[in-house]
Amino acid sequence: MKSFKVIRLHSEDGHRVSRVEETCLDDLDPGDVVIRSQFAAVNYKDARAVTGAGNVVKRFPCIPGVEVSGIVAASKSSKFREGDVVTVQGGPEFGIRHDGAYAQYVRVPAEWVHPVGGGFDSFSVVALGLAAYTAAVAVEELIAHGLTPDKGKVAVTGATGGCGSFVIDMLAGLGFHVVAVSGKPEAADYLRELGAKDVIGRDAIAPGAKPLETQLWAGAIDAVGGKPLDDLLRTMKKRGVVCAYGNAAGETFTTSIYPFILRSVQLVGVNANHPVGLRGGAWQRLAGDLRPRNLDRIVNRVPFAGLPAYCERVIAGGIRGRGIVQF
Ligand SMILES: NC(=O)c1ccc[n+]([C@@H]2O[C@H](COP(=O)([O-])OP(=O)(O)OC[C@H]3O[C@@H](n4cnc5c(N)ncnc54)[C@H](OP(=O)(O)O)[C@@H]3O)[C@@H](O)[C@H]2O)c1
Repeated sequence: MKSFKVIRLHSEDGHRVSRVEETCLDDLDPGDVVIRSQFAAVNYKDARAVTGAGNVVKRFPCIPGVEVSGIVAASKSSKFREGDVVTVQGGPEFGIRHDGAYAQYVRVPAEWVHPVGGGFDSFSVVALGLAAYTAAVAVEELIAHGLTPDKGKVAVTGATGGCGSFVIDMLAGLGFHVVAVSGKPEAADYLRELGAKDVIGRDAIAPGAKPLETQLWAGAIDAVGGKPLDDLLRTMKKRGVVCAYGNAAGETFTTSIYPFILRSVQLVGVNANHPVGLRGGAWQRLAGDLRPRNLDRIVNRVPFAGLPAYCERVIAGGIRGRGIVQF
């Protein structure tokens, strides 16, 4: 096999630096299955890894990227044959301690590889990927905790993000009145096209700073933590439910006990970082009733050569939707 291109992250003098490099198979971490990459996702944490902004990658040098799909080019495992369409997504190693998705060829242990099927193809399996799965799990949690469309409005923070865009699409499809909370006023039309009935700014979640403010939201799905999560909790309706899955605005937040003991507000945490093989009903529903109606609107196709610049824009907050690298 000839040499091929990868993005490799190095640690140099205490700084993380990524570079596009020419490499060969022998330089990749070992594994039974070699995949010719077709699509890879750009999650928030991938952008942090590529730009060196975050502590995502734990070994250096290493190729980042945690979701890829493609065609099996070689397999020493009896589970896979050359030509199979497969995906590798998530888990504690891939793109973190073992060379990951941002490479024209990927080499991994067979147990990380999953056949693509069940209503998905090599594009949709990664275009939906971790973002749509997280959205689906959060939506399922909201409903499992008692929310129905007749109870009132649902606020969605991080609205233009990869996960937030899918959350809006899914909730609107299920008949909920979605209020998109976004720091990008210029994206209001996009958010309405996804299904939001109203679009408000990040500072408009709560009308004031009191521990309990006017009851506005029957439900909320929060991508950002920090002050917006506190604002949501103070303005939830009685028995309201907040599902929190992200930290784009901060890892900590301050609140009071009053939303919980006076309004019986429920705060539900969501961890959806499951490899494909461990994903349950929410993953199947992505091929069925939770299939996003606006996948093409949400996805930004990124050429491999444009990935570093795209990641810079994600970190600067200048992107809406979900980036998908096309090899
Ligand atoms: N728990 C899990 O299993 C799980 C799974 C996947 C992702 N996540 C986390 O979920 C979050 C969203 O992921 P993503 O891939 O959707 O990221 P993303 O595409 O970068 O979207 C994040 C969105 O958050 C908003 N935002 C960014 N900076 C902000 C700030 N300082 N204050 C308030 N809002 C801000 C922006 O939306 P607006 O401009 O529209 O406001 C941005 O588009 C991340 O924290 C990620 O790590 C968690």
